[in-house]
Amino acid sequence: MTSNHCPPTPRVSLNSHLFQSANTPDELRHLINDISRAAKYISYAIQTSEGGLAGGSNSSGDDQLELDVLSNTIFEQHLNESNLVCCYSSEEQKEMVELSDDAKYSVVFDPLDGSSLVDANFAIGSIVGIYEGREIIGRKPSEQVAALYVLYGPRTILIYSTGNGVHEFLLNDVGEFILFRENIGIADKAKNYSAGNLRALSDNPKYDEVFHDWLKRELTLRYSGCMVADVHHIFAKGQGIFSNVGGSKYPDGKLRLVYECGPLSFLAENAGGVSLDGNIRIMDKEITDLHQRTQIIIGSKNEVEKVCKQLKETSE
Ligand code: F6P
Ligand code: MN
Repeated sequence: MTSNHCPPTPRVSLNSHLFQSANTPDELRHLINDISRAAKYISYAIQTSEGGLAGGSNSSGDDQLELDVLSNTIFEQHLNESNLVCCYSSEEQKEMVELSDDAKYSVVFDPLDGSSLVDANFAIGSIVGIYEGREIIGRKPSEQVAALYVLYGPRTILIYSTGNGVHEFLLNDVGEFILFRENIGIADKAKNYSAGNLRALSDNPKYDEVFHDWLKRELTLRYSGCMVADVHHIFAKGQGIFSNVGGSKYPDGKLRLVYECGPLSFLAENAGGVSLDGNIRIMDKEITDLHQRTQIIIGSKNEVEKVCKQLKETSE
């Protein structure tokens, strides 16, 4: 006789996937597990808090919501408790924060990307990159040893890579991340596009041309205004392109190299996608400031390369 109370088999937890399939070093596996626990608290906080303004702004000048501050605190607590993190840097804090002296890893994160969309009940997420060693300045996103994001939408999902494929997990009702899709791939050809910082069309004729080319070619627009949700659409559909290109208001686009573009580029490249700043790989960009912004064009190889060519050609 079967019981309703047994978990369905086969089911693969995040921990067992890290351990058995991805062959992750123990300390890194523990750290990713600790970060995934932080994400469960954030998921719960989103569902239960009222989400007003906290009254401050972060180092990029964005208004901070109570949820931004709370998510940041939840991350800090879990990273501190792990004893595996020597320092961390958050989009919500100006400086790096020192934790356990001799620990092996530095963690960079955007605790709640797209948080201003929470009152609209849109999907929002946390983005994380992990480096070995203490310094972030002078490094490149290609030096990350792992990256992950958690998307709090109709379902809470976690996507990670340690350089061994990109894998997706679904948070179940008892609070465990269970394998949903393994080895996610991004095809070379895009059918969907997700165009950010469109205010730049008014003074960046090259971006205007790229956008109108997408309209003319009848690609399908999918844009929510939360980077991690919009980039996740590419992973979920296995194709697509996301762009955030500069104009006079944000010459380097709106997004941050360390907290947003670096980790998502690590994941996209591990899924066979491409991520460029218009000229070079995001993964090859040197970090000169923790909060530096960068343009990003990420997703299906053929479309990303075509767009970068268009952005260059029309400027000459
Ligand atoms: O963190 C900045 C952010 O909220 C991203 O999540 C998002 O992609 C971007 O801003 C949206 O910018 P815009 O609406 O100007 O395209
Ligand atoms: Mn963000």
